[in-house]
Amino acid sequence: MPKDEPIAVERVQTGIRLEKRLLKVLKALAEYSDLTLGDLVEGIVLHSFEGKAPFEKATLKHIEDLKRIYADTESFSSSNFAEPITPLCEAAQAKLAEHGFEPIRSLGGLDEPLHTPLREKIREPFKPATAAAWEPRIREVHSAYIDAFAGRGHADLVSDFLWEAPAVVAIEFMGVPSEDVAEVKEYAVGLLDFISGRPSEAEQVAVCEAIGKHENYARGLIARLREDPSGPGVLQHAVRAYQDDPEGIDEHFLVSLGVNTLAAAHETTSGSLANGLLYLLSQREKWEALCRDPELIPAAVEECLRIVPTLTTGRRLCVKDSVVGGVEIPAGAQVLLGVSAANLDADVFAEPEQLDFERRNAKRHFSFGYGPHFCLGAPLARVQMRVAFEELTRRLPGMRLVAGQPFEYVPSASSRAPAALAVEWPAT
Ligand code: HEM
Repeated sequence: MPKDEPIAVERVQTGIRLEKRLLKVLKALAEYSDLTLGDLVEGIVLHSFEGKAPFEKATLKHIEDLKRIYADTESFSSSNFAEPITPLCEAAQAKLAEHGFEPIRSLGGLDEPLHTPLREKIREPFKPATAAAWEPRIREVHSAYIDAFAGRGHADLVSDFLWEAPAVVAIEFMGVPSEDVAEVKEYAVGLLDFISGRPSEAEQVAVCEAIGKHENYARGLIARLREDPSGPGVLQHAVRAYQDDPEGIDEHFLVSLGVNTLAAAHETTSGSLANGLLYLLSQREKWEALCRDPELIPAAVEECLRIVPTLTTGRRLCVKDSVVGGVEIPAGAQVLLGVSAANLDADVFAEPEQLDFERRNAKRHFSFGYGPHFCLGAPLARVQMRVAFEELTRRLPGMRLVAGQPFEYVPSASSRAPAALAVEWPAT
C-alpha cells in the first residue's frame, strides 16, 4: 500500500484489526523511509536507513524469526542499537566536544565476546529479588506524586506523574545520592526520541547539553564512589566489580553505565505506563475490571506491554550474509525489526489484538527484547508498572480520559508514548 494513501483501519488490515492510535504511529514510522504501512502492520521489517549500507527490505511473518535474529549474535551485531538515526548537526557535535564527551558503547550496544562477561559483572542489582525489595520505596514515591494531584479532580498523568515518578526511582536505583537526585533528573530530557526521532537542531543541542552535563556528573560520582563504593545501587555494585577486577571492566564503561541506564530505565517505563493507561482507560470495562480485582494487574501490565509497546522497533546490523524466514539479509544491512508487529503474531497469541487478562502466554511478548541482551531492568520495570496501576485503580477508580483531547506522538522510528494524558475524576 503506498504510504501517502489515506489511512483506514479496515483497508490496511489483513486479519488483525489494530488500534487506531498504534496505526498513527506506524504511519509516522513509514514516513522515515519507503516502507509502506502494509509492511509495518503485517510483518517484521528489514530495512536500511537512508545513506547507509545496502538497502534490503522484506517482511518476516513470525516472532520466531525475530528471536532468531536476536539470538544469532555472530550474524547480527547490536552496535547500531542506540545510534541516532538523524545525524548530529555540527552545533550538537560542538556541544558534546565542549563538554569533553567521550563516546563509549553502552551494554546494549556491545557484541560478544565482550558483552556477556560484562553483563554478568553488573547483573546482581538487577535481579528480580532486588527489584522486589524496591517495592516499598516505589510505592512511597508513586504515592507522593499521586497525593499532589488526587484532590484536584484532574491531571495530566504524563507531566504530573508518569514522567516524574519512574525517573526518581530509576535515579535512586542507580545509586545516585539523594542530595543529587534533583540535579540528575534535569538530565532526563528525552534520549529515546533523540535516538530514533527527527529532532530539530535546537533539540539536538539541548539533548547534547544534557548528555554532556550528565557525563560530567557521572564522572565525578564514579570518582567519589571509588573512594567509598558501599551501598546497594547499580553504580556502587559496578564500581566494586571494577575494583575486584580492573581488567574486566573498562573504567569509562562505569561512566557510560551511569548515563545510559537513566534513559533505559526511565523513559521506557514512563512511556509504557502512559501507553498502558491510555489503552486501559480507552476500554472502560477493562479499567473497571482492574479496579474491582487488583489481582488482574500483573496480567494487565504484560498485555499493555505487548499490545502498546513503547519501543515499537528494535535494531541490529547484519554482519554476515544470512537467511531468516526465507529472507536473504546481506552483510551490511541495517535491520529494523517490528516489535509491535511481532507482539501481534497470531501464531503465538490467539486473537492478538484482544486485551486478555487471562492470556497464559502474555509474557512471551517482545517488548523487553530477547536473548543475550534481554532487558536487565525488566523486573524493576514490572514492579514500577504494577505499583502505578495498583495505586491509580485503588485511589482514583473513577478516573476517565478527558473527552476530545488529541493524543500527540513525537514522530519516531521506535519510541512511542503520548506527550500528555488528560484525565479527570470526581474531586473529593
Ligand atoms: C517498560 C520498561 C522497559 C522497556 C520496554 C525496556 C526495553 C528494553 C529492550 C527492548 C532491551 C533490549 C534492546 C536490544 O536488544 O536491542 C532492553 C535492554 C536493556 N534495558 Fe530495558 N527496558 C525497560 C526498562 C528498563 C529498566 C527499568 C532498566 C534499568 C533499571 C533497563 C535497563 C536495560 C539495560 C541495562 C539493557 C541492556 C541489556 C544488555 O544489553 O545486556 N531497562 N530494554
